[in-house]
Amino acid sequence: MADLDDPHELLLVARNLNPASNSERLVGIFSARLVIDELQIDNIAVASDFRKTGIASMLLEEGLNLALKCGAARAFLEVRTSNIPALRLYLKAGFEQIGTRKSYYNNPDEDALVLSLNMVEIRLL
Ligand SMILES: CC(C)(COP(=O)(O)OP(=O)(O)OC[C@H]1O[C@@H](n2cnc3c(N)ncnc32)[C@H](O)[C@@H]1OP(=O)(O)O)[C@@H](O)C(=O)NCCC(=O)NCCS
Repeated sequence: MADLDDPHELLLVARNLNPASNSERLVGIFSARLVIDELQIDNIAVASDFRKTGIASMLLEEGLNLALKCGAARAFLEVRTSNIPALRLYLKAGFEQIGTRKSYYNNPDEDALVLSLNMVEIRLL
């Protein structure tokens, strides 16, 4: 859960604007916490009817760029072992598996894969 009073918190949202009805809808979120030079990504989620259109990739790229500007050197996150869409998203962005956490999740009980991205390397690309 993002703490909006925490100055280390990064929160990005994607909105879909509908000019016909003059309305907008929240369709994606990215939340992370930057502590010194380590970025802990807490959540990326996209509304089910907007998935597979590049929104998560865009939020991830924007979030990483923002964190880089704020001094991040490495990003970390946990993901359920069965979460193939998220895993593919992160691996495509250059994250690597650095470990596992046994029974990290409940309902249902499942291990987490710990992924990391060396952001100094992506700055050099
Ligand atoms: C994971 C999630 C955020 C991806 O969002 P998205 O906007 O659909 O992702 P993108 O369209 O940017 O896709 C980027 C890449 O992710 C992978 N991907 C996304 N959805 C996928 C799916 N259903 N199956 C396999 N790979 C998938 C692909 O590699 C894709 O690249 P490609 O389109 O070139 O193949 C979305 O499925 C989601 O909200 N899931 C529920 C919440 C969640 O699990 N969040 C992660 C918590 S760790």
